[in-house]
Amino acid sequence: MKKQFDVGVDICGVPWKNRIAAASGTYNFRESSRYYDPAEIGCITTKGVSPEPWAGNETPKVAETPGGMLNAIGLANRGLKGYLSHDLKPLKDAGATVMANVVGHTTEEYCAVAEGLADSDVDLLELNISCPNVKEGGIAFGTDPRTAAALVREVKKRSGRKPVLVKLSPNVTSITDIAKAVCDAGADGLSLINTLIGMRIDLKTGEPVLANGTGGLSGPAIHPVAIRMVYEVRKALPSIPIIGMGGVMTGADAYEFLLAGADAVAVGTAALLDPAAPPRIARELETILFDNRANGV
Ligand SMILES: Cc1cc2nc3c(=O)[nH]c(=O)nc-3n(C[C@H](O)[C@H](O)[C@H](O)COP(=O)(O)O)c2cc1C
Repeated sequence: MKKQFDVGVDICGVPWKNRIAAASGTYNFRESSRYYDPAEIGCITTKGVSPEPWAGNETPKVAETPGGMLNAIGLANRGLKGYLSHDLKPLKDAGATVMANVVGHTTEEYCAVAEGLADSDVDLLELNISCPNVKEGGIAFGTDPRTAAALVREVKKRSGRKPVLVKLSPNVTSITDIAKAVCDAGADGLSLINTLIGMRIDLKTGEPVLANGTGGLSGPAIHPVAIRMVYEVRKALPSIPIIGMGGVMTGADAYEFLLAGADAVAVGTAALLDPAAPPRIARELETILFDNRANGV
């Protein structure tokens, strides 16, 4: 018999009204608010925030691929001060549950952001040790279990009472080894997965399509990879809260993540195609969960 799921969920002590989140880097308050109220979904994960503003990479930063897209945004953001006033405040005023995606070039930079958010209204922190598009920091912290664990230990000292989830990279030989290491170091939860490193070549010029050369692959093409990784990590770590993500386009895709072992599911690329996708997927998932209950599945 399959497991029954409630519509809402508690993630590290923070109640979510449903199990759907907006994935980091794919939500924009001004744009999205024309389509839905941020409090309609379980959680809004904001884009990576660093201590000081980052400019990001040169254009072109995105490219289409079969079944997905490549991006090399490079974590462009207005820095912690701008984040608190421009990004966090309107979301909290609108009643949203908010998870801040934390980035840095160094341990000190990650810690500065964690410290700056410790007394803020943010609900959860998501430590991004998996961005493939920055030269220092990001994925450099997420491919070695010892380096990842050391960063988590330092951040946990500065993050006060805020739960710290760690967002892992699929660009590793064993995601389970990294997951175990960060959980032993004190991570309160996991976000799985960030993008897979990819590249496209322009047939006319013979050069990479993206100015950065490589980019992160997202969308339906990565869904089976993400499902496999959530399934493996859940088997290794039976009780850690897991947010699954990668190629979720429908409520059925999200439900597959719950069956693989995720507690909640984030929607990224789908929202770039259709800004109203997160609440639609939340409604579709709710229907699946109600139907299962009605049918005693
Ligand atoms: C344009 C774009 C920007 C992103 N920016 C971030 C980011 O700032 N921080 C982060 O942890 N992940 C970022 N991601 C990764 C997504 O949050 C997500 O993990 C990934 O895209 C897989 O989900 P999806 O297939 O539903 O998009 C970004 C993805 C895209 C497409």
